[in-house]
Amino acid sequence: MNDAVWNGRTFDGDRRVRMCEVGLRDGLQVEAAFVPTEDKIALCNALSRAGMAKIEVSAFVSPQAIPALRDAEVVLREIERVDGVAYTALVPNVRGAERAIDARVDEMNLVMSASESHNLANLRMMREQSFRALAEVAALARQAGVAVNVSLSCSFGCPIEGDVAEAGVLGWCERFVEELGAGGVTLCDTTGMAWPGQVHGLARAFLQRWPGTELTLHFHNTRGMGLANVLAGIDAGARRFDASIGGIGGCPYAPGATGNVCSEEIVHALELSGWDTGVDLARVIEAARRLPALIGHDIPSQIVKAGRRLDLHAPPADFEATRERALAREAARAH
Ligand code: COA
Ligand code: ZN
Repeated sequence: MNDAVWNGRTFDGDRRVRMCEVGLRDGLQVEAAFVPTEDKIALCNALSRAGMAKIEVSAFVSPQAIPALRDAEVVLREIERVDGVAYTALVPNVRGAERAIDARVDEMNLVMSASESHNLANLRMMREQSFRALAEVAALARQAGVAVNVSLSCSFGCPIEGDVAEAGVLGWCERFVEELGAGGVTLCDTTGMAWPGQVHGLARAFLQRWPGTELTLHFHNTRGMGLANVLAGIDAGARRFDASIGGIGGCPYAPGATGNVCSEEIVHALELSGWDTGVDLARVIEAARRLPALIGHDIPSQIVKAGRRLDLHAPPADFEATRERALAREAARAH
């Protein structure tokens, strides 16, 4: 299968992986510092130009619950809309949907949790109440001609309840696809509990049942399994991944949450393995380097710390002298 000229580049459809940048939402929602609106806009523009397939720009949630994203409207209104990039935002309820439609989002990312406890902690509702609210939101989105994706938190485990049964997760997916008419579902590993075998099983089961629905996988690197989980997802046929610039992020209502898988680490690893992400890695790294000044602390990104695999280093200062001595010893041995 050959697709697509996308964002000015031609891709072999079989090797194409679509990156969804979530740093502006999942990343900033947990930060104590309020990143100024114009810096959010500049970051979003840099990420658009870097070739992300989708950007989750902000969240239309209660400003009391997530003060860091209280400027969602302004950010959505003032960013550059680059052709081929889908601009999405998190929407928890009807109030959020109305705001998101006004702000001309391309897609609403609805959210609920596969676990009752996390749903209560995060959204202050039982799961059935959340689902009913999402059904209202989906109806509004349909009327407005806006696409719907549903993100299912704690799909791979809950920090309060523990294991979450695969059958339960697939049961919610069935209701998103068949009752809400969602065009996409994101299976979220909110606190880094997923492991590769589990990811492979769940992604394969989803893709077999709903081949026409966009599946995105969303991992946090809380236990160091993030990249392994992305590779397991690819193995199972998943081709869309959420990731966050700098590796920042985490759910403020999930105990022990830490950063998303890091965009530049994932792109770096996938491109080495011959996957075409469409992302200009140098631009993402440049944007990530500016993050610590915005959020006031260091970022997890290993690529920002170490550089790319072939970003080489100058030899040590005494290198030439060492070489001369080694050559002299070799010459003496030969005599
Ligand atoms: N946008 C703006 N304001 C909103 C809103 C929205 N989408 N939803 C609720 N509010 C406001 C209400 O107007 C109300 O304000 P008031 O106290 O000034 O009257 C206040 O928030 C409480 O509203 P209520 O309907 O009682 O909601 P709640 O307190 O049960 O909160 C959520 C429910 C889900 C809307 C809220 O907890 C929330 O936005 N949480 C954020 C979850 C999140 O983003 N988690 C991390 C990402 S997964
Ligand atoms: Zn997350």
